[in-house]
Amino acid sequence: MRTEQPKMIYLKDYQAPEYLIDETHLTFELFEDHSLVHAQLVMRRNPERGPGLPPLVLDGQQLELLSVTLADRELGIADYQLTENHLTLQPTSTTFTVDTSVRIHPETNTALEGLYKSGTMFCTQCEAEGFRKITYYLDRPDVMSTFTTTVVAEQHSYPVLLSNGNPIASGPGEDGRHWATWEDPFKKPAYLFALVAGDLWCVEDSFTTMTERNVALRIYVEPENIDKCQHAMNSLKKSMRWDEEVYGREYDLDIFMIVAVNDFNMGAMENKGLNIFNSSAVLAKAETATDAAHQRVEAIVAHEYFHNWSGNRVTCRDWFQLSLKEGFTVFRDSGFSADMNSATVKRIQDVAYLRTHQFAEDAGPMAHAVRPDSFIEISNFYTLTVYEKGSEVVGMIHTLLGAEGFRKGSDLYFERHDGQAVTCDDFIKAMEDANGVDLTQFKRWYSQAGTPRLAVSESYDAAKTYSLTFRQSCPPTPDKVEKLPFVIPVELGLLDNQGGELALRLAGEASAQGTSRVISVTEAEQTFTFVDIAEQPLPSLLRGFSAPVKLSFPYNRDQLMFLMQHDSDGFNRWDAGQQLSVQVLQELIAQQQKGEALVLDQRLVSALRTVLSDETLDQAMVAEMLSLPSEAYLTEISEVADVEAIHIAREFARKQLADALFEGLWLRYQANRDLSKQTPYVAEAEHFARRALQNIALSYLMLSGKPEVLAATLEQFDACDNMTERLTALAVLVNSPFEQQKAKALASFAEHFKDNPLVMDQWFSVQAGSVLPGGLDRVKALMQHPAFNIKNPNKVRALIGAFAGQNLINFHAADGSGYRFLADLVIELNGFNPQIASRQLAPLTRWRKYDDARQALMKGELERIRGSGQLSSDVFEVVSKSLA
Ligand code: TRP
Ligand code: ZN
Repeated sequence: MRTEQPKMIYLKDYQAPEYLIDETHLTFELFEDHSLVHAQLVMRRNPERGPGLPPLVLDGQQLELLSVTLADRELGIADYQLTENHLTLQPTSTTFTVDTSVRIHPETNTALEGLYKSGTMFCTQCEAEGFRKITYYLDRPDVMSTFTTTVVAEQHSYPVLLSNGNPIASGPGEDGRHWATWEDPFKKPAYLFALVAGDLWCVEDSFTTMTERNVALRIYVEPENIDKCQHAMNSLKKSMRWDEEVYGREYDLDIFMIVAVNDFNMGAMENKGLNIFNSSAVLAKAETATDAAHQRVEAIVAHEYFHNWSGNRVTCRDWFQLSLKEGFTVFRDSGFSADMNSATVKRIQDVAYLRTHQFAEDAGPMAHAVRPDSFIEISNFYTLTVYEKGSEVVGMIHTLLGAEGFRKGSDLYFERHDGQAVTCDDFIKAMEDANGVDLTQFKRWYSQAGTPRLAVSESYDAAKTYSLTFRQSCPPTPDKVEKLPFVIPVELGLLDNQGGELALRLAGEASAQGTSRVISVTEAEQTFTFVDIAEQPLPSLLRGFSAPVKLSFPYNRDQLMFLMQHDSDGFNRWDAGQQLSVQVLQELIAQQQKGEALVLDQRLVSALRTVLSDETLDQAMVAEMLSLPSEAYLTEISEVADVEAIHIAREFARKQLADALFEGLWLRYQANRDLSKQTPYVAEAEHFARRALQNIALSYLMLSGKPEVLAATLEQFDACDNMTERLTALAVLVNSPFEQQKAKALASFAEHFKDNPLVMDQWFSVQAGSVLPGGLDRVKALMQHPAFNIKNPNKVRALIGAFAGQNLINFHAADGSGYRFLADLVIELNGFNPQIASRQLAPLTRWRKYDDARQALMKGELERIRGSGQLSSDVFEVVSKSLA
């Protein structure tokens, strides 16, 4: 482990590299107890950095240097300097070659970064700075090189040998070994390098591109998973077509490969031509993966594929620019998912996620701008802010420029910067140049952290003018106290008292311009006046969530119910329902805190009854509208979150709704369960929608405790043909008081799926999420289950992540037992997988949201972690910022 003190790195210190690498030639010799890596780097002085030949400082970590040759001369120990993180050489001419040989130990690499083994398979993960654990290199994204890679391994155990680009040669070797050579003609940074060696099967297909080129598509998996690849393959083909149609982007190599691995720190990785995926992000079939999992696979396959242009062909200059590729690519995959499924439902889910989790990040000690200006450990910056808020920022550009203007901008960006490593400013410049606009002020979204508040007030007068006044502000974040005003695009409409949409004419305009339009709030306080407004209207604001802000307008509950029914914007209809629910729930929370009897506002019941009985609505929308805001969201919007009161209030509301709406829920449940029985599983939007409503209905119905609901749940659990219905039935039982049926269902599920790790992950998660008392003990017991393995990130996420992140009432137990448990776990994980340790730590960083007693307990645990010994830079950064 590290001995050098972690240090802060600043964007303002960026300097272009002293040297460049034009060609990289690698040979890997893989063995069971070590591997050898031979690298030949064809290098030159970077002309941008002027004359002179400064020392060449190569990155390298945990490498055993066996030999180093500079310009064909093997160097002696006196000819170079070797430290924990660097190998320094002195070049003597402007162009030269460096050859190194190193020994590494993938077989004991538990951090899952660099070259490692997942099961019996060798694989790599190089983003962000993992390549330096493979060989000495200039491991930074602005050094782009072509790669040829030869992999040599034992033939029998590793029949499949893969790397980036196209296969150019292969053959037998000595002692039962064989080799294969791959060539990637596209210059790329080292973080996009990949290698795989294993006993894999593949599903093959092909794709004809827009210029009629034929591309071979292969998904490699362990043999037992060969029946779970079709959904990912379909998703890949759809993604390739969509990127051609919507962005004009064509695939460039002759082959595109995806490999599924079981041990992976994140979702997936966009290595050039050889994407490596967490098996949870590839494998899906009806019997083992839920609808949500199918949609996640579709989205991640698309995301990684889209990176081929937004990330690979045009890459990042430095890691501060991470959102350049990630924010843009999330925006692209969201657009794809919206087109493949229900666009409104996709938007609702994205926004609910952003408002719950990214807003919480923005309000915590790790808050940072979409383009951070400093970091200690870049792995800690693969965040909701960089990804999800970054996508919102790109989305606002799309809103401001319109689809056509945006496409002109993206075309210019890809054309201008193909083969380059660039910045967020370059992206904006392309958008500006293609559209003749000035986005200078807009760029504050990249540099200022925090979630802006947008308070809106109205006034209407007899002269038929209606004014909306917007006041924006942004709370201080660790980087900055004073914030300058943002450009906030607000899409809005005005409803008349029949629910119709009024024509929108701003003062000074010659005529009305539609009934839904985008205005830009650019000042701290700004008023927009609409004229010819014949009656006092009701505003529908921030349609489609046109900016990632916290908007407030003093709606009363009747107005929210009106918007729920009449707003022409589907997203805002849902959001009106959420705002109504929040008001009602906050009232219950206050009652609970004052020790009063809880009384549910019946307007919520009647609003949801209307939704439930409207058969013309998209059923997925009905399911979303019936979902009350989560405890995590109620926590996020609280000044000080009262864990118990939030839980009690929300459960009370759910029970009241279940009782009041029983009949309607039961009808919708039965109708949809009947359809499920008649229709074989299809992974398509309309079927997702039907099952979503069926399942949320069931979870409400079970709150009644009625025997017919228990019978229906057991019937669904036993007789369904897909994991969506089965897992919901299981979750409903697990959260119910029916101990005997629960135990039986859990046991039979585990027995049936014990050999399928991804299904066992779901089995762990369902139990980790049970809000019944005793949550921590259940989690501890499950850690002893044979299917649990702390070295496997999916298991850690499924059990511990689900407990600490979603089971708030149990995790935040007043005695601090949940916090102590999580801190112990983080200390343990820190010893072998720092990235996972640091991510699991997130719930403890939210201490500011809680009461004094809990704050003290949470900070105490953070301090205990800080004092626990040799911390990785990952954990060190999060802990020290949380305690600052
Ligand atoms: N670039 C990956 C993505 O598509 C993120 C990623 C995958 C990653 N594995 C990682 C980031 C490991 C850091 C460490 O979003
Ligand atoms: Zn990505």
